[in-house]
Amino acid sequence: MPKPLLVVGSVNADLYVEIDRLPAPGETLDGSNAAMRPGGKGANQAAAAARLGQATWFAGQLGTDAFASALRVALGDAGVKLDHLAMVEGPTGQAFILLQRGGENSIIIVGGANQRWGQIPGALASRIASAGAVLLQREIPDEVNLLVARLAKTANVPVVMDVGGADRPLSPELLGLVAVLSPNESELARLTGMATSTRDEVVTAARSLMRSGVATVLVKLGKRGALLVSAANEPIEHPAFPVSVVDTTGAGDCFTAAYTVALLEGQSERNRLGFACSAAALCIQKKGAMPSMPLRSEVEQFQSRHQR
Ligand code: RIB
Repeated sequence: MPKPLLVVGSVNADLYVEIDRLPAPGETLDGSNAAMRPGGKGANQAAAAARLGQATWFAGQLGTDAFASALRVALGDAGVKLDHLAMVEGPTGQAFILLQRGGENSIIIVGGANQRWGQIPGALASRIASAGAVLLQREIPDEVNLLVARLAKTANVPVVMDVGGADRPLSPELLGLVAVLSPNESELARLTGMATSTRDEVVTAARSLMRSGVATVLVKLGKRGALLVSAANEPIEHPAFPVSVVDTTGAGDCFTAAYTVALLEGQSERNRLGFACSAAALCIQKKGAMPSMPLRSEVEQFQSRHQR
């Protein structure tokens, strides 16, 4: 039985509107199907891991507005343990999502409660120390991620970090505390200042991060699939599955969470990558971030239909 996963991060009310194309400056367009769906990179990753059967705690912060209770219910329904989900005065985090035809999105974040962290409570510090892995992203202050990663390192708990959520550089100290770093190709280019257009460039850039202490770099390549670069093995690639895309929101979160679940289960690097690509392929076929996280049984059925 794998040890529990702790996800520390953001939770957002995702405010969707569907459009044919982005408006030009000064232009007014009609949108449709406006809806609130639960999201936020931390909450999405916690929900994904729990739906994949992994015992998962989420540490995050809701505000005191009407979104908070709906988001708490959505996380609970996904099976996430909520002992470390706090409420702080003021608005909950929001993401304004412009969903375009073909599933691509443009997102504006208003951080709200995700940006109002204080000290790490003692109960959360104990949870970090007893976790099998800690999963982080970048929609909460970097200082909080650093404190959590330091506590994890002291307790010998591996930190998996999804680079999504902020374009700022990552501090060398934080980078040195991360076991598995997961950027997409543009995040990898920004982090390293290197080109990432070809496979060889991605491998070279990923290896440059490994000099900072990261053991594994897990690169999301969108339509080109994913590439795993680690000290232990030759780079491993997995193509994206040819599925019809409805909404890519949350697919990266689904991918990183599924990889972490498979890591906790002791699966091989190749199997972790296949599991993560399969979960993400299911995620992009539904609208919403948290609502599109697949169940374990759905991923296993998908994998048996797409044996490589
Ligand atoms: O990664 C997807 C998430 O990014 C959305 O759920 C939205 O909340 C934004 O944070």
